[in-house]
Amino acid sequence: MSVTILAIESSCDETAASVCRDGVILSNVIASQQIHEKYGGVVPELASRAHMENIVPVVEEAMKIAGCNVNELSAVAFTQAPGLIGSLLVGAQFAKSMAVSLGIPLIAVHHMQAHVVANLIPENKPDSPFLCLTVSGGHTQIVLCESPLRMKVLGETIDDAAGEAFDKTAKLLGLPYPGGPLIDKHAANGDGTRFHFPEPKIPGLDFSFSGLKTSILYFLRNAGKSLLYKEEFLASEEEKQLFIKDNLNDICASVQSRIVSILLRKLEQAAEQTGIKDICLAGGVSANKGLRISFQALGEKKGWRTFIPAFEYCTDNAAMIAIAAYHKFLEKDFASMDIVPSARASW
Ligand code: KG4
Ligand code: ZN
Repeated sequence: MSVTILAIESSCDETAASVCRDGVILSNVIASQQIHEKYGGVVPELASRAHMENIVPVVEEAMKIAGCNVNELSAVAFTQAPGLIGSLLVGAQFAKSMAVSLGIPLIAVHHMQAHVVANLIPENKPDSPFLCLTVSGGHTQIVLCESPLRMKVLGETIDDAAGEAFDKTAKLLGLPYPGGPLIDKHAANGDGTRFHFPEPKIPGLDFSFSGLKTSILYFLRNAGKSLLYKEEFLASEEEKQLFIKDNLNDICASVQSRIVSILLRKLEQAAEQTGIKDICLAGGVSANKGLRISFQALGEKKGWRTFIPAFEYCTDNAAMIAIAAYHKFLEKDFASMDIVPSARASW
């Protein structure tokens, strides 16, 4: 008998639904919330309200595209953690209501583990155990995936996430939120070797991006004359804006190149320590062209098999929740009806 799962993702500012049958994605619908743009970041209260408005039409659309009737569903899955609590509650409550009314199992999915298993969606999959560098707006992790249901975090950021480093840099440059994709776009026309930003010295496989953010802040306030706070270098607002305008592409390329080198150095270290050669990317930042190109080049040099999910499975989506739920279904790993979402997640 085939296994058909409806999955819902509502952890942040995307309301998404997907239907998967026997591990094959049949639909993947996402409603992005534009309302946050004018605030320069996600406003949790507004996100929850938008989820309430979007969830019914998004689920209906996902079912329609999949050509699936509710009576064919084997289970309903939802993102249980981590995320914005008000946003998670909307998806959780909707999934519970559907599971109860249809009399089918409920499956709770860990959003960060789902990012990792997005690599299991295509036919060409990594073999377990594999390593995954998960880079999103809220997380930066190197995960050892022993099986779709067994994962270990080998290293993670001790302060800002890689996506935050992109977004905060974009904000300093006066670019709109979320700035990551815009930095990527400008970097494509810039020289990444022109400006040198420091690489943090963090032990083990952990990351740090807050020092980089501070040096970018002073670099811009000094109109490119220094990365440090120095009274004599402080430029007027006008000089700073002119410097940004004249050098935007090179600044973006140089910042991007440093973020990428910080990420890949630790990933290379993790591969050496574990001896694993099947290596994946995941999360919104894996859409970054500079990261994708450097990751694949490093893989070739090191003899890795490299995997990157399709673009629509990198940023937040429900297909990754559906595939994670499919593996949980096979193990009969169901949630009880009193389960509650959580802002933080344990592994
Ligand atoms: O995984 P995701 O969609 O949501 C979270 O769970 O956080 O990741 C969103 C992050 C944002 O910080 C966004 O700026 C970044 O991914 N991002 C990018 C690119 N596309 C998305 N960063 C750099 N280059 C991109 N092309
Ligand atoms: Zn995410």
